[in-house]
Amino acid sequence: PIFKDEDMRSPIICILGHVDTGKTKLLDKIRATNVQTGEAGGITQQIGASFFPRDCIEKNIARLPEDLRVGCKPPGLLIIDTPGHESFTNLRSRGASLCDLAILVIDITAKDLEQQAAESIDILRKSNVPFVIALNKIDLIGNREWRVLGPDASSKLSLESQAPHVQHHFHKNWQWLQGKITEKKGLNMEYYWKLLEAKQAPVEKSKQKKSKGKKGKAETPDQAIDDITSADSYIHVVPTSAISGEGIPDILMMLMRLSQEQMRGRLEYEDEIAATVLEVKRIEGLGVTIDVVLTNGTLHEGDTIVVAGMNGPIVSTIRGLLTPQPLKELRVKSDYVHHKAVKAAMGVKVLAEGMDHAVAGASLYVARNPAEVETYKREAMEE
Ligand code: GTP
Ligand code: MG
Ligand code: NA
Repeated sequence: PIFKDEDMRSPIICILGHVDTGKTKLLDKIRATNVQTGEAGGITQQIGASFFPRDCIEKNIARLPEDLRVGCKPPGLLIIDTPGHESFTNLRSRGASLCDLAILVIDITAKDLEQQAAESIDILRKSNVPFVIALNKIDLIGNREWRVLGPDASSKLSLESQAPHVQHHFHKNWQWLQGKITEKKGLNMEYYWKLLEAKQAPVEKSKQKKSKGKKGKAETPDQAIDDITSADSYIHVVPTSAISGEGIPDILMMLMRLSQEQMRGRLEYEDEIAATVLEVKRIEGLGVTIDVVLTNGTLHEGDTIVVAGMNGPIVSTIRGLLTPQPLKELRVKSDYVHHKAVKAAMGVKVLAEGMDHAVAGASLYVARNPAEVETYKREAMEE
């Protein structure tokens, strides 16, 4: 036995992609917020973090046809939003380095693999992060002839319910884009439902194949999936619309599935603190605060913390721990919830003196005695 379900922490998911593909809007749709419309020029310029509790995920998954549903063991998902603008490569890398899993958002109407999508693929590969593709803006397919099946409907059902020529248009667009992505990045990708089907019935499929006596290189799409599923090397593609919400249940289900089936061993809650400073921010009434992603362990009010600073290591004491409400964005000022302790995984605003020169991207250490303070001061500056 590896560990009990109760010991599973929330997976950290990073959302990456080219500028304006709909990353923030997708999160807005799940949260029922309007973060994107409040951004200057509609451009994300900071990393964000939002906690999506289990009941939100379960409510979404319940919208799927029964054969696609999956249980939800972790307390929720912590999703990190990143900018797609070309000047924020460092923030995309920071986001990717923090996460267990990622969503790569691709605009279905794009004509080619876009620059920052390609860069995101490179970053994710370098950090060894598994990811799913959200094929977003499906509502724009077929010269706006796409008919919304229902708000937050399964995109598999929605696609199947479209007029034949709209379905054709959709598949043609994706085939074209897929060709470009494979050519440039050598990825294997497939609609998630095909991959799930192939996994559910690998025995029957291989029997079929043998009885047909086919050998050698895969020829039909079905065969191709069948051959590769065993290696789990295919990337699950989930059509979505941040406007209608179609595909949102599907993508949350896929993230849950991958977390529970493939990542499980890596998602055990541990007491040892792992935390990273996302942003250093002055907040009216609170002074300079640090937004932190807590990956593991529990932070307490009164803890002695050590963080790398521009002019040397900073040692301070946590005087407050704030989180946004569930389904609210950490980077947007809101009615924060005060805590005595915060358990991973969570995005948390840490109040402590002397954070003015803290370095975004640095690790945050908790020291339990003076000797640890000295050790972490050294470690902080060696990063
Ligand atoms: P950056 O963070 O700046 O890289 O952009 P982003 O990927 O977060 O995209 P954002 O959410 O800012 O959306 C960009 C634009 O695309 C906005 O005008 C959205 O309304 C629009 N948009 C996003 N998703 C969809 C979608 O699914 N369908 C349609 N029709 N428009 C969308
Ligand atoms: Mg954005
Ligand atoms: Na944008």
